[in-house]
Amino acid sequence: MSSRPDQLYLPKLAVLDRVVDEIAEVRTFYWHFEDPAEQAAFKRFKPGQFAQVSLFGIGEFPASLPPSPTEDETFFTIRTVGSCTSALHALKPGDQFGVRGPYGNGFPMDAYAGRDLVFVAGGIGLIPLRSCIIYAMAHREQYGRIQIFYGAKSPTELMYLSDLKQWEKAAGIECHLTVDRADPSWQGHTGVVGSLFKQDGVNLDPAKTTAFVCGPPIMFRFVIQDLKGMGFEDHNIVSTLERYMKCGVGKCGHCCIGVAYVCVDGPVFTFEQIRKLGEEI
Ligand SMILES: Cc1cc2nc3c(=O)[nH]c(=O)nc-3n(C[C@H](O)[C@H](O)[C@H](O)COP(=O)(O)OP(=O)(O)OC[C@H]3O[C@@H](n4cnc5c(N)ncnc54)[C@H](O)[C@@H]3O)c2cc1C
Ligand code: FES
Repeated sequence: MSSRPDQLYLPKLAVLDRVVDEIAEVRTFYWHFEDPAEQAAFKRFKPGQFAQVSLFGIGEFPASLPPSPTEDETFFTIRTVGSCTSALHALKPGDQFGVRGPYGNGFPMDAYAGRDLVFVAGGIGLIPLRSCIIYAMAHREQYGRIQIFYGAKSPTELMYLSDLKQWEKAAGIECHLTVDRADPSWQGHTGVVGSLFKQDGVNLDPAKTTAFVCGPPIMFRFVIQDLKGMGFEDHNIVSTLERYMKCGVGKCGHCCIGVAYVCVDGPVFTFEQIRKLGEEI
């Protein structure tokens, strides 16, 4: 981010390289900055941070950074919702757009060294957690047991399929998938994501485990209940919060909850912090 006040909101020019369909209305956009120096500076982002994406003449929106800083490519995974996200979906390879960031606190991955990590994601909640998972795998020796629990409504709504296939086969991590409603193609587990915790071979040690939880509010609520039932303390559960954002840098106040600005104090918060902020779960 530029330290010059007159350049605080100035996006840097980015070029779209390629687009990959994930699930209905969700695509992954691979891109690079026109200026290689900007690309190098941006690559110092942390898992869990976000960027502001500009569609010229239309507007800006915040987007998580699903790549890990340990990967070469930069990309966003975006669901079409309204004017800006639809404009991004309409771009073709070679088209330009703007990016500013990285912003926000990110997950303090070093602080979890020596601990077991559990990633629990529902639907597009896997977008912000993908970065942490790839980062943890790239620093495998720093962490204890790594388990992933991912659920979607149906098999066609599972995202990042090539990652999921790799994670299911990878040595040193355990990946458990589920869908709420199976179809004839689905041979795996059926049920909500929390039902995976009851599968054979799954056991979590709440005292030495940090749980990352991201997903729709209903899934979040039930997973928190499950984790608390197992004995997880609130400070060992981490998540990201979404709020309407404008500036992304702590100036406009759009993203305030309680005493926190989600864009600078978050978007990563422990469940203990989320409760203290008065957020309804
Ligand atoms: C930190 C952060 C990270 C995010 N990461 C991603 C990501 O990786 N991928 C992704 O697809 N989306 C992500 N989002 C959500 C994304 O920013 C919104 O979908 C986007 O701002 C919508 O812009 P738009 O102009 O297309 O829609 P608009 O025209 O602004 O809005 C269309 C509709 O969506 C609703 N809406 C807009 N923004 C939000 C929001 N933040 N929460 C709930 N409802 C909203 C509006 O009320 C309206 O009904 C993130 C949001 C935040 C705050
Ligand atoms: S988005 Fe402006 S203060 Fe957070």
